[in-house]
Amino acid sequence: MIKNICCIGAGYVGGPTMAIIAQKCPNIKVTVVDLNESRIQAWNDADVNNIPIYEPGLSEIVREARGRNLFFSTDVDKAIDEAEMIFISVNTPTKTYGIGKGMAADLKYIELCARQIARVSKSNKIVVEKSTLPVRTASAIKSILDHTGNGVQFQILSNPEFLAEGTAVEDLLAPDRVLIGGDSSQEGQKAINQLVNIYVNWVPNERILTTNVWSSELSKLTANAFLAQRVSSINAMSELCEKTGADVNEVAKAIGMDSRIGSKFLKSSVGFGGSCFQKDILNLVYIAKSYGLDEVADYWEQVIIMNDHQKRRFAKNIVKTLYNTVSEKKIAFLGWAFKKDTNDTRESAAIFVADDLLAEQAIIAVYDPKVKKEQIYIDLNYLETRSEQQNSKGLVVFDDPYEACKDVHAIAILTEWEEFKTYNWQNIYDQMQKPAFIFDGRNVLNKKELEEIGFVYQAIGS
Ligand code: NAD
Ligand code: UDX
Repeated sequence: MIKNICCIGAGYVGGPTMAIIAQKCPNIKVTVVDLNESRIQAWNDADVNNIPIYEPGLSEIVREARGRNLFFSTDVDKAIDEAEMIFISVNTPTKTYGIGKGMAADLKYIELCARQIARVSKSNKIVVEKSTLPVRTASAIKSILDHTGNGVQFQILSNPEFLAEGTAVEDLLAPDRVLIGGDSSQEGQKAINQLVNIYVNWVPNERILTTNVWSSELSKLTANAFLAQRVSSINAMSELCEKTGADVNEVAKAIGMDSRIGSKFLKSSVGFGGSCFQKDILNLVYIAKSYGLDEVADYWEQVIIMNDHQKRRFAKNIVKTLYNTVSEKKIAFLGWAFKKDTNDTRESAAIFVADDLLAEQAIIAVYDPKVKKEQIYIDLNYLETRSEQQNSKGLVVFDDPYEACKDVHAIAILTEWEEFKTYNWQNIYDQMQKPAFIFDGRNVLNKKELEEIGFVYQAIGS
């Protein structure tokens, strides 16, 4: 029985996942470690509302388990040394340099973890890949761990995380499945069982799937590629709907009722974002290319091309509709996060739409209920399209949506936050330039109601 777990990486996956394990397994000590001191400090903040990751229901769980059997620390060596099982939940972003730049997963943080585990460990450990990794990464980790020369035995498991941000707590509490890949040897099977024994504390047995390591690693990339493909497919149809008078919501409903297709992931949008879809598909494309499978690579790359097109055409449509010029015109952005119920902004469509509109000299007024002002500028400056001064001149962040919408020519909805539906739209209309436009990039507002007030309302795909 495992009594002591360590998780390296206190991010969107490591934090929530370990909080649930600690809550459901009060007899296991769970320590989450990270190099980022301010992140750990925030996880340890006396006020649980200040934890660094916003997820509905997460702060309550942290309040219950923290200090009992859930700990957050920057002492990585100590936590590795004490643990019998080590989860690696560090980031695996797209490489920004060298071979595979812009496509391959950057595994430097993974390798650093493996080397640190190898250096510090004095007893046998089970190392669990929680991060999303290219297929066959486990063999690289194993090679690093096995060359330490201090006689410690390591078992490597793949246990990819399928949670989606915004619903992390529900996804973790009632997962569709838990996937565990391990070696077929006796020791490998024993390690798999030890991890299964943790999950059985709250996940029904039939939902725990065990496979070989490579299937597990590849299944994660496959799941994200399939989900993203659905969004790009419906987004491709959204453009055709706009040209033909069909309504993408009606089309989505009609095809979603076909049990072979199913209704999920058919919401047309300004484009998918988030830290995973683009990075994981690019990684898949890179893997396919590296095996010489060019047609396979091209097939999946098209999902990304379609997504880039969807973001770009949203911005283009705003410019075209506002009489082909947005220069000096103020446009409000409602939402900056890549989806509702998260403060994560990685790859959010809002960033790219803002960038395109700033290039047209628009002035952008942003309001998002959970994203901090500093983060919005970090996202924009990261693109390096223009200077930081130009960005802070061109884009202003507001804490109040009504203030953000004052005097604007148009409002663009970039995130589907529920609160947008409850606004007093008549009030907003009264304070806007006329004609007052709304570009609903998420199909969340009520067209009829807004048109009755006087808005010119345009949604994606209708
Ligand atoms: P994140 O950037 O939020 O968190 C990663 C953390 O790891 C950071 O806080 C970083 O400081 C820390 N870290 C990096 N190297 C370290 C080291 N050597 N020692 C200690 N700490 C280190 O990333 P995330 O969103 O939690 O994603 C982590 C992994 O999980 C990625 O591989 C991602 O693809 C995968 N994943 C993410 C999601 C998601 O929704 N975000 C879902 C499923 C899987
Ligand atoms: C995704 C996967 O769903 C999850 O299983 C994996 O572990 C991590 O990556 P996440 O990125 O957190 O999760 O959010 P998800 O709900 O998948 O949404 C991704 C993007 O697609 C968002 O920008 C979302 O707004 C967009 N989307 C999703 C649509 O545009 N339409 C849809 O119908 C669904």
